[in-house]
Amino acid sequence: MEKIVMYPADIEKDAVNWKDAQGQHITAVRRNILVLGSGGREHALAWKLAQSDGAVVYIAPGNAGTAQVGINVNIKLSDFKAIKDFCIKQEIHLVVVGPEQPLVDGIVDFFKEDADLRGVNIIGPDRRGAQLEGSKAYAKDFMEKYGVPTAKCFKVNKDNLDEGYKFLESVNAPYVLKADGLAAGKGVLILNDLQEAKEELGKMLDGKFGAASATVVIEEFLKGIEVSVFVLTDGEHYVLLPEAKDYKRIGDGDTGLNTGGMGAVSPVPFCTPDFLDKVEQRIVKPTLKGLKAEGIDYKGFIFLGLMNDNGNPYVIEYNVRMGDPETEAVMTRIEGDFADLLDACADGRLDEVHYAKSNKTAVTVMLVSGGYPEAYKKGMVMSGLDSLKDVVAFHAGTTFDADNNVVTSGGRVIAVTAHCESIEEARGVAYREAEKIRFEGVNYRHDIGLDLMKMQ
Ligand code: AMP
Ligand code: GLY
Repeated sequence: MEKIVMYPADIEKDAVNWKDAQGQHITAVRRNILVLGSGGREHALAWKLAQSDGAVVYIAPGNAGTAQVGINVNIKLSDFKAIKDFCIKQEIHLVVVGPEQPLVDGIVDFFKEDADLRGVNIIGPDRRGAQLEGSKAYAKDFMEKYGVPTAKCFKVNKDNLDEGYKFLESVNAPYVLKADGLAAGKGVLILNDLQEAKEELGKMLDGKFGAASATVVIEEFLKGIEVSVFVLTDGEHYVLLPEAKDYKRIGDGDTGLNTGGMGAVSPVPFCTPDFLDKVEQRIVKPTLKGLKAEGIDYKGFIFLGLMNDNGNPYVIEYNVRMGDPETEAVMTRIEGDFADLLDACADGRLDEVHYAKSNKTAVTVMLVSGGYPEAYKKGMVMSGLDSLKDVVAFHAGTTFDADNNVVTSGGRVIAVTAHCESIEEARGVAYREAEKIRFEGVNYRHDIGLDLMKMQ
């Protein structure tokens, strides 16, 4: 009789003794995994998945960093047909969708409806589930219906603009205006002046963010400290993945323009067991109950953007994917076989798998291009990557030039993550190593985690 096992991740093929101690023949099998996306989040997901037994990881389209942990495939995320053909040709077993756009565009529906893809596990919600991120108005209605704590709001379009003005007049500054649809992370305005808020509301409805702002959600401003909590659910069961704090502004001390994220820390000291219990009881459970009640079969990540107001959690936003750069911190703290965890999620068996996280602290420092988040140059040759120690450098915006040099290709370039015994140590190691990476114009924040260190 033959014993079938997953190909061990930590040994070379040639070193495998294909008979066990009893002389039984062993066949080791591979599992082919496809990660969709090209940023630091996808490098971190691919890095973690590559450590799973049997894993061969493909990344579409990937970047210079993902090429170190898997095989990049030149497919556009919008080309579902090409993704399908690749999955069939390469016998892909598990697909992990990194960014929100393909989910909102229905990639999971596409997979579920196609008989040829029936055996493929895909992690992410279908089009309806993805509306939690794809439409802020939908998310607010959902939260209201299922009693999830969130800021009071009013939804405006061109037909009820006067009522929108009245709502603005009825709340205190600052005024929060959100484009209903996806606006590449730029659709939220926070304004101190009532007149300016009214003017901006008009501009949004006139197409400031295109069709995404045909409806605008006006929200009451929530006070407190933000934290990102990540949930993996199979629709019935869930696990809480490590939480993280994200640093959104470009400058030290939370100054300057908003960015995609300049760093992350996990765990977050103010996320006490008591706070996380409130998150589960008041937010996670009602959210999952609501999804079920709506008939939405949700198998994937839910990223809760939360405000902690004096120990009470409120939802600022739902995202239907992992965060970036939070994932670059979070993945280093997940223990065990991540592909097993995601397979269990796809199979509805999340209650059966063992899941553990490290008690150490991860600090991620994002190196960005000079000028980012405004105009910046691309194609800058990078050096120092080979000399890094004690960190993982997740590539966010890199590629290869014609001479095979690693060059910058985006605003956010490299996320340097240290995973150490304490936040002090992790900060020290992350910054010591970040300094070694050089490219023209390189910039980063110097205060990632400093606030949390003081809070301990
Ligand atoms: P979002 O795109 O929904 O994540 O919003 C961007 C950022 O705006 C959030 O990360 C918060 O910092 C801030 N924000 C959004 N909504 C509110 C709110 N109701 N109260 C306070 N800050 C908010
Ligand atoms: N770090 C925030 C986000 O991924 O949306």
